[in-house]
Amino acid sequence: MLIAGPTRGGKTVLLKSIITTLLLSHSATDIELIGVDMKPQSLAFRKFGPVWTSLVDRPEAFVDVIQDAIFELEKRADKLAKAGCESVQEYEETTGHRFPRRFIIVDEYGRSFGSPCEDEIATGMMQLTAMGAGLGIHVILATQRPDAEIINGKIRANLESVVCFRVANGVQSRVILGHEGAETLPKIRGRAIYSAGDETVLQVPYISDKTLQRLLSSRRPARGKHGNGEWKTIQARSLRVGEDL
Ligand SMILES: Nc1ncnc2c1ncn2[C@@H]1O[C@H](COP(=O)(O)OP(=O)(O)O)[C@@H](O)[C@H]1O
Ligand SMILES: [Mg+2]
Repeated sequence: MLIAGPTRGGKTVLLKSIITTLLLSHSATDIELIGVDMKPQSLAFRKFGPVWTSLVDRPEAFVDVIQDAIFELEKRADKLAKAGCESVQEYEETTGHRFPRRFIIVDEYGRSFGSPCEDEIATGMMQLTAMGAGLGIHVILATQRPDAEIINGKIRANLESVVCFRVANGVQSRVILGHEGAETLPKIRGRAIYSAGDETVLQVPYISDKTLQRLLSSRRPARGKHGNGEWKTIQARSLRVGEDL
């Protein structure tokens, strides 16, 4: 999924809604949430507490996340081939083994460009978005800069759905959605066009940090995977209901 719109358009709030929904609809062993927050000094994802399998904020660590996911993709593809299965669903039905669904959720994706890692990130993203969703590894990219330099044609073609908030003009709408229209959305925070084949105008539900912490307070911590120790730091600061970091 691509989430695009101007600063303060509502992108991070939508990500928070999506993350909360994913956590409420999957058990801790059934989901791997990888947070990549490229906004400097951002606390947005940390507010969730120890739900992250991995949480990173540097382009170099983002490259590790991508490479680890590609490695996992290849492993999954290999297992499917060995079992003679064409899809994850078929594999899971045949073997009774379920792959955890992995979600790589990136806020301010555009900011990873301009770093020395940008080529590695772009190439890796291409590979990942080409095969990932079919093997249970999903990518959600939020960015203010959805131009071709940041989201190249191949990545773009692989992103199955787009959420576009109100933009300044028809040209920007065309870059994001392929046509004009998002510039005429009413000036209501959280109002956006959701495009996944068909298009719908939607209102993103607002979720405060307090609410998401209350909803997730009884959740078991995720198991850290990438060995960067990040999640442990977060766990040590784990939240009490209503507490603000
Ligand atoms: N769906 C929404 N409903 C109500 N207010 C919202 C909504 N989305 C965003 N806002 C308001 O706009 C502010 C900026 O939203 P944010 O998601 O941080 O923007 P972005 O990440 O696109 O810069 C939020 O702090 C909130 O006050
Ligand atoms: Mg934001």
